Amino acid sequence: MTGKPGPTSAKPVVNKYLVMEKSRLNETVFKIRFLANDIAERVLPGEFVNVRPGPTFDPLLRRPFSVYLANPEEGWIDLLIKVVGPGTELLSRLEEGDLVDILGPLGRGFDLETVGTAVLVGGGIGIAPLVFLAHELLFLKKPVHFFQGFGNAGEVCGLEDLEALKIAPVVSTEDGSFGVKGLVTDPLRDFLRKQKDPEKIELFCCGPNPMLAAISNLPDSDRWKAQFSLETRMACGIGACMGCAVPTFDGEQYRLVCKDGPVFKKNEVWL
Ligand SMILES: Cc1cc2nc3c(=O)[nH]c(=O)nc-3n(C[C@H](O)[C@H](O)[C@H](O)COP(=O)(O)OP(=O)(O)OC[C@H]3O[C@@H](n4cnc5c(N)ncnc54)[C@H](O)[C@@H]3O)c2cc1C
Ligand code: FES
Repeated sequence: MTGKPGPTSAKPVVNKYLVMEKSRLNETVFKIRFLANDIAERVLPGEFVNVRPGPTFDPLLRRPFSVYLANPEEGWIDLLIKVVGPGTELLSRLEEGDLVDILGPLGRGFDLETVGTAVLVGGGIGIAPLVFLAHELLFLKKPVHFFQGFGNAGEVCGLEDLEALKIAPVVSTEDGSFGVKGLVTDPLRDFLRKQKDPEKIELFCCGPNPMLAAISNLPDSDRWKAQFSLETRMACGIGACMGCAVPTFDGEQYRLVCKDGPVFKKNEVWL
């Protein structure tokens, strides 16, 4: 089942946006709030922005980040940034009052047209697009279940923002230092097995590809719907360089993660 592509918002904008606040969520993850009225009013859950990490051309390329939360009334967007290399390191050093060059929103977000019961599954920093999605689903009065997987307790983040939405996620860590011991797919498998009406379930997943592949191979996966947000490395971010091409599920064509995704329906691309 692939269905039609997910929604895409109005034309992207590029501008310099003010850092309103920054907080550290754990050793390597920061949340940065930008005053970005024009992005906040048009972005849809699952879409991303392309951020220039610094004022110079080193690093040369913009870096893609999911929108973690957006508030069109107050005109801000939040990004969750995990430091993994030079671009994210520069962004982690931003301070209140700095101006940052951001292009967005880009890509296609989650399709909420047919969702019944939503099951959100995030691996590591893959929770980033899911908090905004949870917000939207609650607004639409949909039941939301949330599963988060991390390597260890030190990597856990996002719990306070989910608590603010009155969502109690099932958290798992691989070493058992927080929540359930094991992979996020372990409690998810148990949950799905207990569902009397799996046809009403739709999974919304974001995380490393092996996690997404494991989810799509869970027992009875043909009975529930699923959408996967990919974190594939990007270059141009606007469909011009083919740097983010992934094969379709049948292996016959390619899709561009930056333009056709990052959200794809189950069995649309090869995970
Ligand atoms: C659609 C999309 C949404 C994303 N959303 C977020 C987000 O909300 N928060 C966040 O922290 N990160 C997110 N990422 C990943 C983020 O873009 C990269 O971590 C960032 O570009 C790394 O830049 P860097 O210069 O710090 O590191 P680089 O020097 O570019 O890379 C450092 C290390 O990280 C690895 N790496 C880089 N990019 C990726 C990637 N996409 N996936 C896996 N490994 C990677 C590299 O292989 C290398 O080992 C997203 C990526 C995509 C494609
Ligand atoms: S990153 Fe250039 S086409 Fe997708």
